[in-house]
Amino acid sequence: KKKEGRDVSLWWREKQQQLIDIVEESGPCYVYDTDTLRTYGNLVKGIEPVDRSLYAIKANANPDVLKTFRELGFGFECVSIGEVNHVIELFPDIDRKDILFTPNFAPRTEYAEALELDVNLTLDNIYPLQQWPELFKGQELFLRIDPGHGHGHHKHVKTGGKHSKFGIPRFEIKEVAELVDELDLSIKGLHAHIGSGIKDPFSWKRTAVILHEVAKELGGVEILDLGGGFGIRENETQAHLDIQEVSNSLQKFKEAHPEYELWVEPGRFLVAVAGVLLASVTQLKGKGKVKYVGVDTGMNSFIRPALYGARHTIVNLTRLNEPNSQSVNIVGPICESGDKLGIDRLFPHSEEGDVVLVANTGAYGQVMSSNYNLRAPAKDIVI
Ligand code: LLP
Repeated sequence: KKKEGRDVSLWWREKQQQLIDIVEESGPCYVYDTDTLRTYGNLVKGIEPVDRSLYAIKANANPDVLKTFRELGFGFECVSIGEVNHVIELFPDIDRKDILFTPNFAPRTEYAEALELDVNLTLDNIYPLQQWPELFKGQELFLRIDPGHGHGHHKHVKTGGKHSKFGIPRFEIKEVAELVDELDLSIKGLHAHIGSGIKDPFSWKRTAVILHEVAKELGGVEILDLGGGFGIRENETQAHLDIQEVSNSLQKFKEAHPEYELWVEPGRFLVAVAGVLLASVTQLKGKGKVKYVGVDTGMNSFIRPALYGARHTIVNLTRLNEPNSQSVNIVGPICESGDKLGIDRLFPHSEEGDVVLVANTGAYGQVMSSNYNLRAPAKDIVI
């Protein structure tokens, strides 16, 4: 949480002028701070009972971001063959088992390609084993289990329970065990990821306990991958995830079950705080008491507020030290009423050309951007 007494989540305050110069030169952009990436990487590495950490690259696939985590010793979790190939292209010498491919309802060809590439492969459905047995015969695999419950910051990101499309339900484990025997498979690891933006520190221990129950039914399981989902503060009113408590609770599990290697695969936690979205004020408008500050990029660059109602800290970077004098909506130039980066925000008097900063946007920002309205989204810059 704190580094040398400062809140590292406010790294951008110290780089105010550098960031303003960047936007003036580049236009709307995401900027990622490598030191902050490392700080969060080390926090995850500090979860002692965890033996292996993978970075879930869906959160931010920027090559320099991946290089930073590779240097810290992270493996990579990928959800498409495109992501797998991205990692292999960046790191041709990578041990293929440092990559875990976790597809969901992917076509048969992607499983075949993953086996060819020799990466760790997770099945999250019994269907591939039943329908394409010849593909898997004698293979070493991971299975993604649905522990029966989901968790997360929004219903769209809960990935457990009957109404989620992910994971093998526990009632199918017996049938899976029969197929494992029939096809001479070795189930090296079990996997679960119940959702994203979780602040309950005991969530991963709960998952471990359930995966252990399933492992007993299958036999021979060496690895429990407890997923990602580690929550962050999107704004200063939200709580931190107590990472020390995550560690303590997993330590207890590990003491009771030293037979397993524990893996985690965070995305958001590693990259969110290290990234900011920068845009420039284009126009101002007042409809009576309702005031709008328009900026030169919107939901085409950052869709989380529109999609999940996410409330990220937003500041006028040009006027960081001026008093807030009004409540405004910060909006982009996209032709949708939902194109709001922030609603009802306290803001200083602002003018055309001011730089606006949306904080904690290093995860699920640029990767979810689009060319909607044929407006090019913010580019990526790593400092
Ligand atoms: N592992 C698996 C199998 C996943 O599906 C995910 C995320 C992760 C790991 C990493 O989860 P994280 O640590 O980042 O929470 N677009 C949404 C988040 C979707 C997460 C999808 N899966 C958002 O902006 O909140």
